[in-house]
Amino acid sequence: MNVLVTGGAGYIGSHTCLELLESGYGVVVIDNLCNSNPKSLDRVMELTGKTLKFYEGDVRDEALLRKIFQENEIGCVIHFAGLKAVGESVSQPWRYYDNNLNSTLVLTKVMKEVGMQNIIFSSSATVYTADNEMPLRETSRTGGCTNPYGWTKYMTEQILSGLATAEPEWSIVLLRYFNPIGAHESGRIGEDPRGIPNNLMPYITQVAVGRREMLSVYGNDYDTHDGTGVRDYIHVVDLAKGHVAAVKFAMEHTGCEVFNLGTGTGYSVLDMVNTFRDVNQVALPYKIVERRPGDIATCYADPAKSREVLGWTATKTLADMCRDSWNWQSNNPMGYGE
Ligand code: NAD
Ligand code: WQD
Repeated sequence: MNVLVTGGAGYIGSHTCLELLESGYGVVVIDNLCNSNPKSLDRVMELTGKTLKFYEGDVRDEALLRKIFQENEIGCVIHFAGLKAVGESVSQPWRYYDNNLNSTLVLTKVMKEVGMQNIIFSSSATVYTADNEMPLRETSRTGGCTNPYGWTKYMTEQILSGLATAEPEWSIVLLRYFNPIGAHESGRIGEDPRGIPNNLMPYITQVAVGRREMLSVYGNDYDTHDGTGVRDYIHVVDLAKGHVAAVKFAMEHTGCEVFNLGTGTGYSVLDMVNTFRDVNQVALPYKIVERRPGDIATCYADPAKSREVLGWTATKTLADMCRDSWNWQSNNPMGYGE
């Protein structure tokens, strides 16, 4: 069976293409490369010894989508394509709503036309409200997002679950990711952010490799075990395997189901810094600075539903995540750019 992977050249998409190929699926990718490099797909093919089909283009391009569905027998779609920088979404809200919402609307319109209505969507823990008890369950409160990016995830969940309610032929899986980090153990594919990284791990690896001077730790006065923010970091390979499990689930069910993809364990910024230093034996200068606006103290998942229903559990440790992130960055100091 072929899976259409939108945004497949990106960080999570490329790791998922690899796991899909390893699991025996055919893979067709559409990506406009607005935040990725097609070398990621060449490397996926090199690592698996299998080929995938790549269409360079935008998911909002209805004619291109029709052509892809005509030229390929697709059994399921995984929809990663989207813009994901929280800060940028505040300064460019229209671009975020246009890209992230219209891509889903056009994609589902064409899927309905061709009668292939199985879709897995990349949602985020950001849809949960800040006032929830931890750990976050799929039934925890959602909404109240603090930036347009978060609203696009919330609204896309509403669009897709509404479709499933109205039209019983849809099979929709909403996957709420926690904090994906790490890279494939080969060090050949990984996260390659453009410009100054917003997220913790790419910032750490760029400091360690000498591209940035020092890590700024945003606040050490939170109500956590060492005062720094606590998150549920999940290895991107575990996350990718969660998508393979979700494809199987989507093919066997209809309706709309939501799953957390996290480990269930929270680590602080300083846990991350110390583990990264210990595992990789590299210097990692940091300074404590003011809190970053919009951050919360603690966020971690209850992954029980994914374990029980999808049969999926994250297996990799924080040390694995730190080792693999560094293996990728140290072997590719400029990412795919050289
Ligand atoms: P990424 O930027 O590496 O990958 C997204 C890919 O989509 C890129 O290759 C980009 O070129 C492509 N793309 C964007 N808009 C497109 C469009 N209109 N048409 C075609 N291609 C388009 O990001 P990622 O980290 O791999 O994230 C994948 C998905 O998971 C995104 O939807 C993101 O919001 C979601 N997500 C990511 C995280 C995270 O921390 N990385 C957490 C939760 C959810
Ligand atoms: C993690 C921790 C920071 C950078 C974001 C999005 C979320 C989701 C995942 C897509 C926090 C601290 C960070 C730095 C630091 N993405 N930090 N110095 O904020 O949990 O989640 O990415 O859906 O929507 O909001 O991740 O990696 O930015 O931060 O001290 O230079 O690291 O304060 O405690 P976050 P993050």
